[in-house]
Amino acid sequence: MVCLGNICRSPLAQGIMWNKIAEANLDWEVDSAGTNHYQTGEPPHHLSQKVALQNGIDICDQCCRQFVREDMLRFDKIYVMDRENYQQVKKISGNLWDESKVSLLLNEVEPGKNKSVPDPWYGQERDYHDVYKMIDEACSRIVERYAE
Ligand code: 4NP
Repeated sequence: MVCLGNICRSPLAQGIMWNKIAEANLDWEVDSAGTNHYQTGEPPHHLSQKVALQNGIDICDQCCRQFVREDMLRFDKIYVMDRENYQQVKKISGNLWDESKVSLLLNEVEPGKNKSVPDPWYGQERDYHDVYKMIDEACSRIVERYAE
């Protein structure tokens, strides 16, 4: 799960996906990263933590990291929150770039629409709730699609 800062959206996506993986008893691994390094080492944004907890998910132990090109080899699927993330992942991955692995997360809900999970960084708590709902729906679709 990849966003810009690995502070607001992708930590939520990691926590939500982790929860669904546990509920469905799947042996999947999930992680998150940001395309920049400005918040490396920090915990998720306090509003991401708060909204996750209100939904029964604890993400406070997560730690920000930057996406590295080896992630392209380490993971089978890489979900990005917006088109800018997509371009940055492509740039960082260099010759390890594998287009077939990378998708916009919301294309799981509305295929081909190329919609973004909006960045809530400058927003209010309600924006984090909106982001939570979007990510939650997309993660449910991923489990439906790939779990057998
Ligand atoms: P995120 O949000 O990509 O959802 O983690 C942001 C976090 C930090 C910044 C922008 C967006 N920033 O400009 O530092």
